[in-house]
Amino acid sequence: MATSPVVPEKRPSEELNRAVIFLGPPDAGKGTQAKQLAAKFMVPHLSTGDMLRENVANGTPLGARAKPIMERGELVPDSLVLRMVRERIERPDCSHGFVFDGFPRTVAQAQYLGELLKQHGFRRPLVIHLRVDTSLILRRITGRRMCKVGDEIYNLYDRPPKVAGRCDNDGGELVQRPDDREEIVAPRLHAYEKQTAPLVAYYTRLGLLHDVDASKSIEEVRQQIDKALLQARAKH
Ligand code: AP5
Repeated sequence: MATSPVVPEKRPSEELNRAVIFLGPPDAGKGTQAKQLAAKFMVPHLSTGDMLRENVANGTPLGARAKPIMERGELVPDSLVLRMVRERIERPDCSHGFVFDGFPRTVAQAQYLGELLKQHGFRRPLVIHLRVDTSLILRRITGRRMCKVGDEIYNLYDRPPKVAGRCDNDGGELVQRPDDREEIVAPRLHAYEKQTAPLVAYYTRLGLLHDVDASKSIEEVRQQIDKALLQARAKH
């Protein structure tokens, strides 16, 4: 499922009411943390990677253009991604905020998003930068397995399922993502360094970036994110 549709009967006691952006290299743990945060505040988790993979799976024209690019580990052109994102955040379930996972990924995407958020009356976003060493990234990439049914994320080394090859939640088959193959890892890391890493300086200049040590356990990373959110709330 590309994004989590949220139709809650009751809102949580504390509202998010802003965009949260997860920034970090491939397999830093963006999806793992973004899903948890979105569930806590009952807002949509918006993964541009998942949205693109869903377009590929459904054989849409966008999916047909994105597929070979994603298979090479390169970034899909801004024009395609921006339209997809705009359409998604204009849906009513985003009115209480939302959590981006893998967007923005270029300075042009970040500038466009800044304008879009202003137009829709959102506060300044909170940007969580997940810092992690390359050696750990390789371990996370090779160990990652995803549930085919519900997209739950596992790791053979650090977060194994109870039954090998099956999702704990729904028994779905666990599979490796095609771009987690070793030969695609280097181009993905290269695209990150060249096109996405400049966003760290971009958001630092805007005073929106919160650095998080993503080499810690999933729970410890979550606690750092909670702290960053409290700090951001106190500031703006
Ligand atoms: P996308 O799907 O966004 O891939 P990515 O950025 O490479 O990130 P991943 O989803 O691989 O990793 P993650 O950081 O979410 O890590 P996860 O939580 O799964 O993009 C795929 C492609 O789509 C791109 O290459 C590009 O072609 C295209 N695309 C997408 N967005 C685009 C955009 N905006 N513009 C242009 N093109 C775009 O965790 C990884 C593993 O580590 C898991 O096994 C997990 O269990 C484990 N783990 C997580 N946290 C921890 C921890 N703290 N300790 C131990 N293990 C952990």
